[in-house]
Amino acid sequence: MLKRKTVAGIVAMKKMGEKITVLTAYDAGMSSMLAAADVDILLVGDSLGMVVLGYDSTVPVTMDEMIHHASAVRRGAPDAFVVGDMPFGSYQTDTRDAILNGGRFLKEAGCDAVKLEGGFEVCGTLKSLVRAGISVVGHIGLTPQTATQLGGYKVQGRDIESAKKMIAEARALEEAGAFAVVLECIPGELGKIISEEITIPTIGIGAGGGCDGQVLVTHDMLGMFDKFIPSFVKSYCSLAPMIKEAVVSYNSEVRDSIFPDEAHSFSSVSDLRKLLGM
Ligand code: KIV
Repeated sequence: MLKRKTVAGIVAMKKMGEKITVLTAYDAGMSSMLAAADVDILLVGDSLGMVVLGYDSTVPVTMDEMIHHASAVRRGAPDAFVVGDMPFGSYQTDTRDAILNGGRFLKEAGCDAVKLEGGFEVCGTLKSLVRAGISVVGHIGLTPQTATQLGGYKVQGRDIESAKKMIAEARALEEAGAFAVVLECIPGELGKIISEEITIPTIGIGAGGGCDGQVLVTHDMLGMFDKFIPSFVKSYCSLAPMIKEAVVSYNSEVRDSIFPDEAHSFSSVSDLRKLLGM
C-alpha cells in the first residue's frame, strides 16, 4: 500500500526537482483509479459544478456539494493526498467563515488541505487558515470564480503590470503560508519565472512546462467533457465517443432481445415451470 504524502513531502518534491502530478476527482470510483495510477495529489475542484453538476460556472457550487463529493473521493482513495477546493462565498465573507468551512473539508471529508482562489486580497484569510492548522494551496492567474471581473476566461498576465503583480502575489501567498500555488492560464515564461521566484511548488494549468507540477480536470484529459475544451488541455483519450458507442450497442441489443443472453442470466432449478405448475 502506498504511504499518504504530506505537505512537507510535496514541498520537498520541488527541491528534489520531481514534477508533481495533480488531477481532479469528484467521486470514489475515479479517485480509486487515480490513486492506483499513482497521481500525487487529488483535487476535489469546484470544477465539479461544471463537469459533474451541470452548472454553467463554478460560482453556484455550495459547501455541502463540495463536502459530499470530497467525502466520496476520500472513501475511494484512503491513502491519497486530497485537496478540497473552497467554493465561491465560503471564504470571502470573513476569517471565521473561512476557518469553519476550511475545517469542514478536514473534519467531515477527510481532506489533507484546501485550495482557495485569489492574490493579495486572500492573504490575510490564508494566514488565518494556516494558523488554525489548515494547510492551503493558493490559486492565481485565471481564477474562474471571479472570471467575470477578469474579462472572462482569458489568459492572464500578458502585460508587464499584471505579470509584475502576479509575481508579487505569488510571493505574498508563500509569505502568508501557502504550501503550493496553482497558476492558471498564464504565459509559459511567466509560469517559469514565478516557479523560480518562490520556494513552494507551482502547479500549472495552462501555465507552461516550467511549473513544478501540472493539474488538469480529469474529465477534460480523458475526453469526457466536450462542452468547452480549453486549448491548453491535452486529451489522453476520448472516452465520450467510446461511452456513446457502448450505450448505442446496449440499446440495440436490448431492443433486439440479444442482451441478456444465457451467459448473463441466472439458471434456476430444472423444470421450474413444471414445479410451479405452469
Ligand atoms: O476547480 C478546479 O478543478 C481547479 C483546477 C482546474 C485548478 O481549480
